[in-house]
Amino acid sequence: MEWPEHLVNEAKKRIEPYDVEGFVLGKGDDRGRVMIVGEAPGENEAVKGEPFIGRAGDELDKQLDYLGLSREDVYITSVVRSRPYKWVKTNKKGMGGRRRANRKPNQKEIYAHAKLLDYQIEQMKPDIIIALGGVAYERLTGNKGKLSDVVGEAITTSVQKEEDGGYGMSEDEYTVVPLYHPAAVFYNPKIKEDIYRSLDQLKGYLKREGE
Ligand code: URA
Repeated sequence: MEWPEHLVNEAKKRIEPYDVEGFVLGKGDDRGRVMIVGEAPGENEAVKGEPFIGRAGDELDKQLDYLGLSREDVYITSVVRSRPYKWVKTNKKGMGGRRRANRKPNQKEIYAHAKLLDYQIEQMKPDIIIALGGVAYERLTGNKGKLSDVVGEAITTSVQKEEDGGYGMSEDEYTVVPLYHPAAVFYNPKIKEDIYRSLDQLKGYLKREGE
């Protein structure tokens, strides 16, 4: 995807005040039908500048495979482009007693990078936007409801975009499909059945729409 330099520079400047590192714009087929929106890069992604290349990425690949998709078919991006971290204690040698751990992005960080996602959506106009996890779902739809109530559903909706110091709604409507974040299974292995049920729903939708 071609990027206006001013947009990238502005986003980098706006995220500066926060505890974040690295910068990842996105990767994949921006002329395809499917955009996948994650939360924010993790450690590996922040170092390499590529989305979903760590443990969550392996899980995402498994789920894409189950859907009959590959990374080449989709465009992968996220709500925030830099890795939000917090300092935690560690006993590991050579670390000086502390290390950086991942954390969820806060609303200010999400807003600092809002124009990047708006731009990508407007450029690509995807048929389907898969929102991976609650942060992506809320950022896109403005809905603060529980992810478990909507997971796997194909929701036709306008999406939030940066406007006048807050958010407005897009003129165009999109189909947003919320899924659990691939990392959810690491924290809660019991969720696996729910994950595959939602993937089956999405698979059915993709098949119907592809015909
Ligand atoms: N989680 C995300 O949301 N994006 C990544 O790139 C990695 C983990």
